[in-house]
Amino acid sequence: MQKAAGEKILELLAAQAGAYVSGQALAQRFKVSRTFIWKQLAKLRDAGYKISSARKKGYCLLRPVDPLLPRLITEHLRTRKLGRKIVCYPLVTSTMDVAAELIAKGEREGTVVAAESQLRGRGRQGREWSSAHGMGLWLSVILEPRVSPLLASRLTLTAASAMAEAVEAVCDVSPQVKWPNDLYLDGRKLAGVLTEMSGEMDIVRHLVLGMGINVNSKAAEFPSTLRNQATSIYMVTGRHTDRRVLLAAFLRYFERYYSRLKKGDLQGMLAGWRQREMTLGRKVVVKRPRQELKGVAVNLGEDGALIVRRRDGVEERVYCGDVIIDGERQTPNVKRRMSNVESRKHGR
Ligand code: BTN
Repeated sequence: MQKAAGEKILELLAAQAGAYVSGQALAQRFKVSRTFIWKQLAKLRDAGYKISSARKKGYCLLRPVDPLLPRLITEHLRTRKLGRKIVCYPLVTSTMDVAAELIAKGEREGTVVAAESQLRGRGRQGREWSSAHGMGLWLSVILEPRVSPLLASRLTLTAASAMAEAVEAVCDVSPQVKWPNDLYLDGRKLAGVLTEMSGEMDIVRHLVLGMGINVNSKAAEFPSTLRNQATSIYMVTGRHTDRRVLLAAFLRYFERYYSRLKKGDLQGMLAGWRQREMTLGRKVVVKRPRQELKGVAVNLGEDGALIVRRRDGVEERVYCGDVIIDGERQTPNVKRRMSNVESRKHGR
């Protein structure tokens, strides 16, 4: 009841597009007392929403102007299955954790978990993922791909490709993809994909696909360690993007590739990936747990491997690691050093 009430108030404020609504009008609309409205607004503010109040005018939602609420996302959805059930939270530890909990309770393929902010958003290899309130899309999609774990990396590529296409279609800028899971725009990291799976040795039962993309963030909202390496769609275009439209577009592109992939058809996805891939033809260093590999990235294999030609002409297939393009600064490995309090201080 409490969550639903807050959600309804947010929906109404969002629909006013920056105009004020009086406490009395809200109370009448939802047939509750003004004190109840006041308490709900306090909770929404605590959860990170910027809501201004002015005497004689009432309340106005300042930030984010495009709150992630299921009904407001579904309006834009053009998928058959993905996102048909979507759960949205103002604040979670990580959408990956919420998705895992839902799976344990029997949640099925297609459900999407989205959050306005995460206290402990995570990236690959134990890195921290900054997720400022209302500034990006921080989401996890529950999948039941029933493939061999060896082929699961294709889904990471597919998600990155689908997001690049969605950004192109909605925001009119063209991100590049960087093996295995990054999106870059103007030479800086825009988005990343994280996949976590469970199952048996030979089959993936559940796969949680995590996607983080900086949409409306401004430079000052990134922690100082990331400021020179990260970007957002807003920082490049100067325009605000409705995250709900972008999310719906991503799910549509991803669903199309995913259903083809399940039938063994990879060609569309691979073509899209190769067209946008920024390491192909370039000298790279692959940082792997055991040993580094130096060479030129020459192709992307059907199994999702990056094919690197060494100096001696031998081609190696790479399945894991971080790729550094010759001359590129390395993304700092921001391990979990910041406490939650410090993370919040950074607005993350
Ligand atoms: C990376 O670049 O290393 C992957 C980053 C993935 C971040 C997303 S944000 C939503 C989901 N929840 C998380 O905790 N991580 C992923």
